[in-house]
Amino acid sequence: MSTQSIDTGPAFLLPALARPAYLMCSPRFYNVSYIINPWMEGNLHTSSHSRATKQWQHLYEALAEIADVHLVDPQPGSPDMVFTANAGLERNGIVVLSSFLHVERQAEEEHFRQWFQRAGYNVLELPREVPFEGEGDALFSLDGEYLWVGYGQRTAQASHPFLQRAFDVEVISLHLIDPRFYHLDTCFAPLEEGFVLYFPEAFDRASLDRIEAFYSPDKRVVVAEQDAVRFACNAINVGQTILLNEVSTELVERLRLAGFTALSIPLDEFLKAGGAAKCLVMKILPVA
Ligand code: ARG
Repeated sequence: MSTQSIDTGPAFLLPALARPAYLMCSPRFYNVSYIINPWMEGNLHTSSHSRATKQWQHLYEALAEIADVHLVDPQPGSPDMVFTANAGLERNGIVVLSSFLHVERQAEEEHFRQWFQRAGYNVLELPREVPFEGEGDALFSLDGEYLWVGYGQRTAQASHPFLQRAFDVEVISLHLIDPRFYHLDTCFAPLEEGFVLYFPEAFDRASLDRIEAFYSPDKRVVVAEQDAVRFACNAINVGQTILLNEVSTELVERLRLAGFTALSIPLDEFLKAGGAAKCLVMKILPVA
């Protein structure tokens, strides 16, 4: 893909191009090798490589049925690289690369940079001292007019004006106040048809007001704590389908009433590192 070939207007009119694309990374070197979030505590080196591989493969196959999946090569020494949501944020061929808060993940930046540059994306970077963790903390509204961006755990609020300029969107900042929900995509998911899936307790009052001003009560799928800690909000939504970790039948039923088919895929091996379905993918413009 070259920068000149990006033509987003007509793409929306062509059914062949309507299939969304995602970037994933095999869990070949996945492991809980350090502790940078509360989920990793007590889980050092406890993940089973064969179970993690099976669970990842299951997610890959389910996603490949409804979307194009591209792969970036895993790298030794970067056990969290499997969580490609943290590679960066992409829109219309522009990628803002992540600037990881923790030194443990900073080696990933170069690997992701190379993949995006080789694929023809225009890669923008933040200064080292401004942490930004990609799609893990930044999610576009359905119409692409707004960008919801988390701060307070990993991503710094100082990155928000940069994102606003890079993508020419209005940024809505959301303050994350619970260390268990340290990335926005662990507690908030804009869905098709104007719905939102979220765990209210992860946000401060002012941020909740912003969410509630945007989504009317009938469009909010509020997740209870028992499902939130199973990473229910860490959901991949393609059309009517939602791929997510195993959650309560009650939540699956509420999603069904909202028009969605929720497909539960066990991802507990990745929960040990603080990630589930959405963390394992990054939405990208189709790569030629
Ligand atoms: N262990 C990884 C970290 O703490 C998990 C990243 C999960 N990714 C996400 N998009 N929430 O950075």
